[in-house]
Amino acid sequence: MSKTITVLGLGYIGLPTALLFAKAGHMVKGVDINKRVVDSLNKGHIHLEENGLPELFKDAKNNFSATTTVGSSDVFLIAVPTPLEKSIHVSDLTYVKSAAEMIFPHLKRGNLVILESTVTPGASEKLVIPILEKSGLVAGEFLYAHCPERAIPGKTLEEMVNNDRIIGGFNNESTLVAKNLYISYVKGKIHTVDVKTAEFAKLIENTYRDVNIALANELAQIAETAGIDVWKAIALANKHPRVNIHSPGPGVGGHCIAVDPWFLTENSSKWGIIQLAREINDAMPNHVLQLVRSLLAGVKDPVITIFGVAYKGNVDDTRETPALKFIKLAENEGFVVKCYDPHIKQFEYPILPLDQAVEGSDCIIIITDHDEFKKINPANLCMRRRNVLDTRNLLDHSLWTKCGFEVKILGTGTKR
Ligand SMILES: NC(=O)c1ccc[n+]([C@@H]2O[C@H](COP(=O)([O-])OP(=O)(O)OC[C@H]3O[C@@H](n4cnc5c(N)ncnc54)[C@H](O)[C@@H]3O)[C@@H](O)[C@H]2O)c1
Repeated sequence: MSKTITVLGLGYIGLPTALLFAKAGHMVKGVDINKRVVDSLNKGHIHLEENGLPELFKDAKNNFSATTTVGSSDVFLIAVPTPLEKSIHVSDLTYVKSAAEMIFPHLKRGNLVILESTVTPGASEKLVIPILEKSGLVAGEFLYAHCPERAIPGKTLEEMVNNDRIIGGFNNESTLVAKNLYISYVKGKIHTVDVKTAEFAKLIENTYRDVNIALANELAQIAETAGIDVWKAIALANKHPRVNIHSPGPGVGGHCIAVDPWFLTENSSKWGIIQLAREINDAMPNHVLQLVRSLLAGVKDPVITIFGVAYKGNVDDTRETPALKFIKLAENEGFVVKCYDPHIKQFEYPILPLDQAVEGSDCIIIITDHDEFKKINPANLCMRRRNVLDTRNLLDHSLWTKCGFEVKILGTGTKR
C-alpha cells in the first residue's frame, strides 16, 4: 500500500533511498537542512555523482519533492550524517538528535520512524527513542526500526536493491511494517532482529573490512622488506577456499570503514585488534611518504603530483580520504604537492587539469584507483622527472616503464 514517507537527509544514502521509494509508488518528501540541496533538487539538478541516479531521479520525480521542513507523514526515515569526533574517537550523534527533534512534533500513533544512519549500539534505545517520546507517545504507540544501510558508493543503487537487508524493529509490529515498506524496492533477503543487534551487526561488517585491510597493509610492508610482490602472493593465498585477504593501499577513507570501528568500541574497554587495525591503516600515508622519499632521494625542491584525492575509485567523495594526510605530511617535509582528480571539483587543495598537475613534477603518486588513470598515455606526460608510485597496483606497469618511468608499486620489494 502506498504511504507518505519523509526522508531526512538527502545525501549519498538518503537521496537514492527517497527516490527508490518514490519510484515504487510512495509519496516521498525529502527534507534537508541544506537549502542549496533542496533548491537544486527542486530545479531538477542532482548534487551528487552516483551511477544511475539521474535516470532514477527522472523516473521518480512525480512522487518526490524536496523541502527544508518536516510535516506529518506515515513514515519518517533518518539518513543524516554520523561523523566521528576524530581527536577523541567518539561518534558525533548531533545530526541524529536534531533529526529526531524535527520529527517528534509531527509524530502520530502508528507512524513508523526508521533510523538508517549508522550509530553506536544502544543509541536508538538511549538517545533517539527518548527524543521521539517527547511527542507524548511511547515507543510501541509509534513504531521504530533501525535499518542500517550497507550500499557502496559507485554501486549504491544496485546494492540498495539487491543486497540483503537487516531490520531491527522495536517490536513485532515495527519490524513487520518496516519489512513491508522495504520490500517495495529491496530484492535481497530481509533479516529481522532486535534494534541493538541491528546496530551492532552494521558496525562489525565495516570493522571486519578495516581489520582485513590492515592485515593486507601489514603484509604489503613485510613483502617490501622480503623483496616479493604482495599482490601476487595475496592473489595466490585467496585461491584457498576459506581465505579472502583484501587489497593493501594508501590508507582507509570514506564515511564508514575508517569510522565505524570506533563507534563499535566507544562503549567498551574490550578492544585490541580493532584499534590496532585503525592505527595500521592510519599510518599508511606515512609509509607511502617513505616510499616517495626513497624514489626521490637526492632530488632538490621536489614536486609531486597526487592522482586521486577521492577516498576510493570512481566516486566524488573525499570524506576521510588518506590523500589529505599524505599531502599534509609531504608538505611538512618541503614537497610541493599538486593534485589531479577527474571526479573531484572541491577539495582542501586546488584540483588542477592533468597537464598543469604533472608539469614540472618529479613523481606521480596514484592514491585513488579511478579508471581514468588507466587510460592515460604516459608518453604524453610532460614532467621534470618520470617517476610513478602506484599504491593501488592500478597501472599497466610495463607500458609506463617503456615510456621511461621508474615505477614503484606499494607492497613490492623492487622498483620496475
Ligand atoms: N555514504 C555511504 O556510502 C554510507 C553507507 C552506509 C551507511 N552510511 C551511513 O548513512 C548515514 C548518512 O550518510 P550519507 O553518506 O548519506 O551522508 P551525507 O553527508 O551524504 O548526507 C547527509 C545529508 O543530511 C543532511 N542533514 C543533516 N542534518 C539533517 C537534519 N537534521 N535534517 C535533514 N537533513 C539533515 C545534510 O545536509 C546532508 O545533505 C550516515 O550515518 C552514514 O554513516 C553511509
